[in-house]
Amino acid sequence: MPTPAEPAATTTHDADWWRQAAVYQIYPRSFSDSNGDGLGDLKGITARVPYLKELGIDAVWLSPFYPSALADGGYDVDDYRNVDPRLGTLEDFDEMAAALHAAGIKVIVDIVPNHTSDRHVWFQEALAAPKGSAARGRYIFRDGRGENGELPPNEWTSIFGGGAWERVTEPDGTPGQWYFHLFAKEQPDLDWDNPEVHEDFLTTLRFWSDRGADGFRVDVAHGLKKDLNAEVASLDLLHRADLFREGEHPLWDRDEVHSIYAEWRKVFNEYNPPRTAVAEAWVHADRRAAYASPEGLGQAFNFDLLEADFDAEQFREIIAKNLAEAAATGTSSTWVFSNHDVVRHATRYGLPKGSGRGGKGADGKDWLLEGGDPAQIDVARGLRRAKAATLLMLALPGSAYLYQGEELGLQEAGQIPDADRQDPTFFRNKGVEVGRDGCRVPLPWEATPTEGSSFGFGANGSHLPQPAWFADYAAGAQAADAGSTLAFYRRALALRHELQGAESLGWQDASDDDVLHFVRPGGWHVVANFGTAPVELPAGETLLASAEVEGGKLPGEATAWVSVSA
Ligand code: NOJ
Repeated sequence: MPTPAEPAATTTHDADWWRQAAVYQIYPRSFSDSNGDGLGDLKGITARVPYLKELGIDAVWLSPFYPSALADGGYDVDDYRNVDPRLGTLEDFDEMAAALHAAGIKVIVDIVPNHTSDRHVWFQEALAAPKGSAARGRYIFRDGRGENGELPPNEWTSIFGGGAWERVTEPDGTPGQWYFHLFAKEQPDLDWDNPEVHEDFLTTLRFWSDRGADGFRVDVAHGLKKDLNAEVASLDLLHRADLFREGEHPLWDRDEVHSIYAEWRKVFNEYNPPRTAVAEAWVHADRRAAYASPEGLGQAFNFDLLEADFDAEQFREIIAKNLAEAAATGTSSTWVFSNHDVVRHATRYGLPKGSGRGGKGADGKDWLLEGGDPAQIDVARGLRRAKAATLLMLALPGSAYLYQGEELGLQEAGQIPDADRQDPTFFRNKGVEVGRDGCRVPLPWEATPTEGSSFGFGANGSHLPQPAWFADYAAGAQAADAGSTLAFYRRALALRHELQGAESLGWQDASDDDVLHFVRPGGWHVVANFGTAPVELPAGETLLASAEVEGGKLPGEATAWVSVSA
């Protein structure tokens, strides 16, 4: 068993492994449950390493597995250098990292620096300490307004709904100061003007790097530096970047945030190969470069395709812009359609309007925000388009991020009973927004549940209920079926490895406005048909297609990879 002093071997010393990696996101509590407590765990992941190896991914990114009250699915961290006992132990982490590395798979862990949980020892100290103390100085505490401080310091709102300030009860039992929380009230924001906060996160980065983590996904990377004194009362503050000069929004994407990542970069570079990082920063494409620079985190999520319609022109513009931006900084672009925060793309694309994180139904209702009627989903179309989009993405230069279950063609589980919902968005908005539980329902591994159990997720049900139709998507049945979505992903990922070369792409003239056609080095042609009428493929060998090619024609809403010799 590797120890922290002797980390699990990394798979390669290639410093550039991340540039064109296929990274598979695991939401640990919903992946695989080894001990039958209804929650996925680290041993569950270790047991599924053969599945991950066969899938053909290069790295896994693990959403938080740290001790947490789960007020926000684990993004409320009690202790950054430990494992939630319900998910395992540090030794289980070592064992999992070693098994993944032995299978040639890198390990990326999630770092949540904007806020801790309210159970974190620092926050408990802050509650017990007086106003003005060093313990309160690690967070953002302020006096309230009004005669007795009964009003919050300002009217700013939190991302999850409701106000962004919570009043505390002082140790002597009197109503006291207020603290700031961008997200749920159980997630107090740290004060990144405090050097102790900086030091502690450097310790955490070294802790996981020493234990064999190859990289980090950085939560809310654009939110750490704030100007809480800004004189703005706008309730729209969260969504109105246009009200401020670039880099000067009181909450988001402030220029000074990059000094934090310059410090982190020095830590990453202490390792061989250097540890990598990817910023979760919902910023405009022009502002991404600063996060993705080699002096900063090195790479940043690009959510543009995820927010786009299934539309050739939008895709082309986004791809061209992001490749150009990435090349200018020396990074590689990232691409993603699904994650734990958005409606699964196989569902979005089956809704009348696929755009946005939620997708919209015929009634204009956003699925993520307002819930939706499953009868509005055209499931076959959603999957057809999702496979086409994914095959296009897997052919792009840069890193492709996949979300657990998309390789099964899994649909959003939209109809979760209110009593089973967990997402704070649902509770803080009094049920008006349904939130993100629908993409976090545990995976179906087997089609037949044993009595009282789940679809192979674990021996005793699952913490979010799996609907009966999950049986149709079970991994076990798909593994044995050459025509399944899983077989398609495996083939695509294996071929991607074989075909991938230099990070360049040449656009080809397409016969039709609904068609994108580009070529990668070595004669790897990619044709994506966003329309519904079949189109002619270039002469050559069709290596893989998301729908059946007949007579050299690619059907509508499909992508093909064609090898064309020079
Ligand atoms: C982004 C994470 O992806 C999301 O799940 C979480 O709720 C927020 N950050 C707050 O940590």
